[in-house]
This record gives sequence, structure tokens and C-alpha cells, in this order.
Amino acid sequence: MTTLQAGPPGAAVPATDTGRLLAAAAAVAARGSGGSGAGADAGSEDRDTPSGRGRLRVGVDLGTASCVLVVLDAGPDGRDRPIWVDSHPSGALRDGVVVDFARATATVRRLKDAAEAALGVELRRTATAYPPCIPVQDARACTYVCESAGFDEVLLVDEVTAAQRTLEVRDGVVVDVGGGSTGVGVFRDGVLAGLDDRPGGGHHLDLVLAGALGIALEEAEPYKRAHPRESLPVLVPGLQRIAENIRALTPGEEDLPLHLAGGALMIAGAGDVLAKYLERTVVTYPHALLITPIGIARSAT
Ligand SMILES: Nc1ncnc2c1ncn2[C@@H]1O[C@H](COP(=O)(O)OP(=O)(O)OP(=O)(O)O)[C@@H](O)[C@H]1O
Ligand SMILES: [Mg+2]
Repeated sequence: MTTLQAGPPGAAVPATDTGRLLAAAAAVAARGSGGSGAGADAGSEDRDTPSGRGRLRVGVDLGTASCVLVVLDAGPDGRDRPIWVDSHPSGALRDGVVVDFARATATVRRLKDAAEAALGVELRRTATAYPPCIPVQDARACTYVCESAGFDEVLLVDEVTAAQRTLEVRDGVVVDVGGGSTGVGVFRDGVLAGLDDRPGGGHHLDLVLAGALGIALEEAEPYKRAHPRESLPVLVPGLQRIAENIRALTPGEEDLPLHLAGGALMIAGAGDVLAKYLERTVVTYPHALLITPIGIARSAT
């Protein structure tokens, strides 16, 4: 089956608004904290300054692998314009659930402080997200983390609906495979028709890689990123397991294409493995790990 690429990683801005948003957010993230890091363009500081055109919208993605904070402004054309994207390793969540409240709070506070200092504004409201189908008290923990980190108002959305806000899929399955979990949302006519998730993500791929290569788990992550071509054949059984999870999470929806969000399937060739194994059309996106954080910020009011 086909794998459609919405644009290869690092490619010029694709024509769609999704591609434009992802490329713009990736460019802001590459500039790093303070807007002066690698990849900064002349005039970037001006571009990343709040325009005052409208309320800034903030999204906090409390991921298993990393915590990401995104700030969106309104561009001159009224479209969303990322002006701040920052992340910090998380270590405070397992399978999408907050297990170390103090650490998660400290991480969000640190990201919030850095954004406020750089943008020269106070950020009082944010949206944040929980993996679909976790118990309600676990979902609420995401709200409490943001409140403890200093946000006065916190809007809570589910991760898959957030990802959909970036992808704007009308008929398709949005699949968010992060560090620890695989979330799936079925959309028909732009309306959410089903939502489910299972454990399984990049961390599990690291376990497969470490076992197969006889290396430590902490070595597996950098190896996977630095040597995607060598890693892919070793990871095929792990990717097929993720594919089986997606199959089990979407019974009766086999006609719909899969849209891949999240970092775990950013390894080159992963989309093809899923497409072939599941015999389904798979759409991949550059900078896929920014899809959910941007969508969380887009959910903010
Ligand atoms: N270039 C890459 N190649 C392969 N894997 C990658 C790459 N970049 C990130 N990853 C993987 O993506 C995962 C993190 O993805 P993401 O940021 O979407 O997860 P998360 O939101 O923190 O986790 P979750 O949503 O499960 O709570 C990590 O497990 C990492 O191994
Ligand atoms: Mg995630």
C-alpha cells in the first residue's frame, strides 16, 4: 500500500497549512531558547516577538519522553504563527500518566519562565492534554501540574483531538505514537467517531533495539536517531507490534488512511513498514513530534 509524505523532514514549507505550521514551528524550535540558537535567520527576533494582534495561545504537552511548550500568535494573514517552541526531557510520566508530580511541575515552570522571559509577556492561560482513555483523575493531574507551575487557567483536551487540530483530517485515523503510548482517533466528515489508546511507543522500540544490539537502553535512543537505516530492519518486529495495536484499535475502519503523529514513527521508513503490514494508506508528516503540541496550543482559547 501507499505511503504519502506530506513533505520529507527538513523540506521546504509544503503548500498545506499543516505543512506550513509544522515547518514554522520546527524553525522556531531550532532557533532554541532566546531565539538566537542554531538556524536563526536575520530578523528572527522581530519575527518571534508577539505582534499584539490578538491573545497568545499556549499549549503544554506533558509527554512521556519530553515536555513541550508552544506559543502561537496570529500572523498578519490571521493564520496561526508559532513564536515559541521549547522542550525539556520529561521523565515524570509513564504511559502518558503523571507519576512524578513535583518533577513534572518543575519542568513546566521552567519552560513557562523561559518563554515569558524571551517573549516579554506573562503567560496566564494554557491548554494541556491527556492520552485518551486514561482515568479521569489521571487526566486531571495534567491540569494540576500546569496550575502548580503558575498558570491561572488551564484547558484540558485529549491528545488525539489536539493532533487533529493541526492535521485537520476530514476522513481518516489520527495516530499519535509517542514515547510511551499509541493513541488513535477515528474521524469521519471531520467528526470524532472513535477514540482509544494502548501502551506502546518509542520507548518500546528502544527496548527492542537495545536487546537486539546488546547495548544499554540509554544508548539505544541516540543510536536509533543517528543510525536510522541500520536500526530500521531491527525495529521491524516492534513496528509491526505497533501496527497490530493500531489494527486492534480501529476495527471496521480499515478503509480510512492513517495519519501518523508523534515522534516514535519519525524513523525513516517506519510509515512504509506500517503501510505494507496493514495494507493501508499511511500519511507521514515532517516534524511529526510537533503535531500534538501545536494542536494543544490551537485548542487554547
Ligand atoms: N528522529 C527520530 N527518530 C526516531 N525516533 C524518534 C525521533 N525523534 C523522536 N523519536 C522518538 O519519539 C519518542 C517521543 O515522541 P513524542 O515526543 O511524540 O512522545 P511523548 O509525547 O513524550 O510521549 P507520549 O505521547 O507517549 O506520552 C521517543 O521515544 C523517541 O525515541
Ligand atoms: Mg505525546
